[in-house]
Order: sequence, then C-alpha cells, then structure tokens
Amino acid sequence: MKYSILFIFCLTLSLSSCADKDDPNYQYFPDMYESLAYETYQEADIFQNEQEAMLPVEGSISRGWMPYDYEDNLEGYDLAKAELKNPLVYSEENLKKGEELYNIYCATCHGKKGDGQGWLVQQEKILGVPSYDDQGRAITEGSVYHVMYYGINTMGSYASQMSEKELWQVDHYVMKLKAELEGKPERAFETEADNEKENEIETEAEEKEVATTE
Ligand code: HEC
Repeated sequence: MKYSILFIFCLTLSLSSCADKDDPNYQYFPDMYESLAYETYQEADIFQNEQEAMLPVEGSISRGWMPYDYEDNLEGYDLAKAELKNPLVYSEENLKKGEELYNIYCATCHGKKGDGQGWLVQQEKILGVPSYDDQGRAITEGSVYHVMYYGINTMGSYASQMSEKELWQVDHYVMKLKAELEGKPERAFETEADNEKENEIETEAEEKEVATTE
C-alpha cells in the first residue's frame, strides 16, 4: 500500500513534468469546445429557406442608416421637393467635402459648375443633362436629395455609393452651384450653434401650432 501510493505519486510527477504548457490539454468530447459553425451560405435544412444566410427581419434598419420616408414616385418627389430640408449645417467643412464628392460622382455629367456641360456631355455620350438653374425644374434641397437617393431616368441612384451624410454634403454644394449660376449672393456659413438655435425656434413654433389646434 505504502509503495503503491509512492508509485502513483512518482507516476503523476513524471507525467506532469512532461506536459507542455503551451500545448492545449487533452479534450474529452471536443464538440463541446469546438462547435461546428455554419458557413454563411451553407445549405442547412433546419432553416426555413434551407440556407444558413437569412434575410433580416422585416423592418430591420442597419446601423448608421436612417430610413428615407419619401416614395420613389412623382408624389414622393413633389413632397421631398416641398418640405425636405438639409439637416447639416452650411459650414465650410461640409461644403468642401461636398465639392470633393461632387467632382468625383457628378461633374462628369453635370460639369464642375453645374451647368450641365460635363465631359460626357461634351463627348455626346449622354443627352438631356440639365443645368442646375433650369427654371422649369426649380430644384430644391429636398428634390436634389430625392434624385440622388433614387436616381431619375438616365441618372442612377447614389444611395449605395455615399452615406446619408455625404449625400447631404453634396446637396449643399449643388445648391451653392445653383446660386452661383443664378448670380445670387453667396450664402453665409453657419456654425453648429446656429443650427441648434434654428431647431429650437422650429420646435417652439411646432409646439405653438399643436397648442392652437388643440
Ligand atoms: C451619367 C450622368 C449623370 C451623373 C453622373 C449624374 N447625373 Fe444628375 N442628371 C443626369 C441626367 C441625364 C438628368 C436629367 C434626368 C431627367 O430628368 O430626365 C439629371 C438630373 C439631375 C438633377 C435634376 C433633377 C430634377 O429634379 O429635375 C439633379 C439635381 C441632379 N441630376 C443631381 C446630380 C448629382 C448631385 C449627381 C452626383 C451625385 C448627379 N446628378 C450625377 C445625369 C447625371
């Protein structure tokens, strides 16, 4: 008995001295440690569509993206044109970024000045590109955003190329080009504080409106 205890003690000592601390230990039931993960597009009959990848639940909104309420039809266009406003302050920074993006995405057709004389137009590759001061169109902040979001006839949508903020930055720049074409005075830059004040005034006005209708 005495010797067997000693023997077991020595055996454990000798075995444990060989163990390499950097190696993973022996695993019983390895499935418990290493779960069998599904591949993204793997077929799997436990899911409804028999594929691992599923559509997001209806009504899901991806992070950093706000839903756009105006529909892709004439009514949606008219509504956006009349009431949709640029939420970004008219700052030098936003305008500069807008100019950069405009020159990348829009100037090939619309021209650097927004007069509808971009390179593709001069090469006669595309027809019917309007100037931003086209009186028949009378574009507004809202309508510009709407056409960038959905596209219009031969002009494609930019919703997947730019973030919401970038689209609004371009929007500011388009409105600046429009004012320049129309020979209007330059709009003064605003700061974050101006914008907050404006929002306060608007909410106060809205509250008053609600109070009077009640
Ligand atoms: C491939 C050429 C092309 C590019 C690039 C392009 N547009 Fe256009 N755009 C057009 C054409 C063509 C029209 C006229 C569509 C129509 O009404 O038939 C138009 C129309 C417009 C209008 C007037 C829409 C209205 O309300 O009547 C605006 C504003 C506009 N584009 C802004 C932009 C902005 C901003 C970009 C860049 C993000 C851009 N476009 C990029 C071709 C282009």
